[in-house]
Amino acid sequence: MRKLIIAGNWKMFKTILEAIDLANGLKRNLFDVTTIDIVICPAFTSLAEVYEVISGSNLQLGAQDMHWEEQGAFTGGVSGLMVKDAGADFVILGHSERRIYFGETSQSVNKKIKAALKFNLTPIVCVGENLSQREENRTFEVIKQQLEECLDAIEKEEARKLVIAYEPVWAIGTGKTALPKQAQEVHKYIRSLLVKFYDEDLAGNLRIQYGGSVKPENIFQLISEEDIDGALVGGASLDAELFTSIVRNSLKVGK
Ligand code: PGA
Repeated sequence: MRKLIIAGNWKMFKTILEAIDLANGLKRNLFDVTTIDIVICPAFTSLAEVYEVISGSNLQLGAQDMHWEEQGAFTGGVSGLMVKDAGADFVILGHSERRIYFGETSQSVNKKIKAALKFNLTPIVCVGENLSQREENRTFEVIKQQLEECLDAIEKEEARKLVIAYEPVWAIGTGKTALPKQAQEVHKYIRSLLVKFYDEDLAGNLRIQYGGSVKPENIFQLISEEDIDGALVGGASLDAELFTSIVRNSLKVGK
């Protein structure tokens, strides 16, 4: 059985005090949820303070990116060592906004995955097609190439520690959610690729989250799909009540 994982990507929102406030609200609201992994991913500046709030609770901490080097002359960079030091156990890698606005490539994601694993961070590896690729019926081809490049030279024992997030770019922050069946189709495809790259055992155990305009109203149906093992939530994770409802509605699926 794959344990559901719901992660909140706070993106470039929340000052330190606001982040502490949100983390406190979630800790209060969700203290009793043990059957779902709940991860919150604040900006770098709030990681350590949010860790203080949630340490010892059922909430887990993630960063939104990291550099692949441990340290060095990389002005503006933050390393895996540093995010681990701040309390993170997860790190989102290859988010489409990093790919679109910051020149992230699947090759750099590959280096970051390897570095993250070295620091015992669980990478949440994002893949997804944009609108024109979907319209040209190239979704599977794009996902395959991204995954192949991201997972290059990552052995099975390492790969089994990953979480994959399928995030169709056209559904992120647009209010357009992929239909549960559309998402399921791609999740199933990703799992079939994992069988090819590794084996049934790994593919059957690896968690694949869906991301893109996830809300309390659509989470139940998404999670009800066989190969959808959780969600990576952006906008709706910035509000304690909305994120709480997303987690609570996921519980109802009884996976
Ligand atoms: P969204 O973002 O929920 O605001 O669409 C999802 C994401 O970018 O991870």
